[in-house]
Amino acid sequence: MAVKTFGVIGAGQMGNGIAQVAASTGGLNVIMNDIADQFVDKGYDTISKNLDRLVAKEKLTADQKKEIIGRIKKSTKLEDMKDADFVVEAAIEREDLKLGIFRKLDEVCKPGVILATNTSSIPITRIAGATKRPALVIGMHFMNPVPVMRLVEIIRGLATSQETYNTTEALSKQFGKVPVECNDFPGFIANRILMPMINEAVYTLMEGVGTPKAIDDIMVLGMNHPMGPLALADLIGLDTCWAIMDVLYKGFGDSKYRPCPLLKKYVDAGYMGRKTGKGFYDYSK
Ligand code: CAA
Repeated sequence: MAVKTFGVIGAGQMGNGIAQVAASTGGLNVIMNDIADQFVDKGYDTISKNLDRLVAKEKLTADQKKEIIGRIKKSTKLEDMKDADFVVEAAIEREDLKLGIFRKLDEVCKPGVILATNTSSIPITRIAGATKRPALVIGMHFMNPVPVMRLVEIIRGLATSQETYNTTEALSKQFGKVPVECNDFPGFIANRILMPMINEAVYTLMEGVGTPKAIDDIMVLGMNHPMGPLALADLIGLDTCWAIMDVLYKGFGDSKYRPCPLLKKYVDAGYMGRKTGKGFYDYSK
């Protein structure tokens, strides 16, 4: 099926980033959905500000910005996805929630429409099992910040068809991204490797081996990482980091993935990172 209208479920930092690249580089009409107006409006404003920055840098003209933003339609009802030719879900990282969304999408979307998920770690095969179209379900995992990062990790579930893979790969390229394929194992490849590093950085902090700044400086200056693991955790969201570690821990049943108790304590305290103004660093000023 030719993809002209692209549906995005979730207007948070991943969802609005995906909507932005789909409407700009991808040139598609986008339906951006979330559960309430306030969330969709916030995502839409973020896209508008990001595009304004590109206009100020003369990477876009004001007319191009208007055209791109004009391609994005806001939605608060999953039923609106009846008009989409391809849907990617980027809701929060909770399995019960995602399964419910996929059940509903399977009901409302046209036959033949691919239902992709931006999950960071939940098995694609399990998500596909909530639908009657498992051959059309696939992982399409973007990285944060979506407009900047080049990778799309594409994950095949057990029943994902080759045609579904090919369409998802072609769309990723249309969005200016580099698709890389992997199989369905907890955390896939990106988070199987990244998250234990972040988790270990939190253990290092908890055990008093160094301050957040020392831990991050060592990884930036010594390993040439663009940002330290604790600053990156704040960017990703500590709730998401914890949820991914929990999936690795339970999925493999291996104690090497034990989520750091300090990470959980921060989440319990509501310190989720940049999005709440506080994580390992303070963003309130
Ligand atoms: N949205 C849009 N553009 C952004 C942006 C955002 N949120 N943040 C930065 N940018 C743009 C800037 O405008 C700038 O653009 P120009 O080059 O055109 O001027 C460019 O990115 C570089 O930004 P900065 O100069 O401000 O800062 P920087 O060079 O330190 O780069 C960074 C910032 C891109 C975030 C960089 O620090 C980086 O690559 N960090 C690592 C990010 C990473 O690892 N992401 C993966 C996280 S894991 C994940 O997402 C998956 C998961 O499942 C958890």
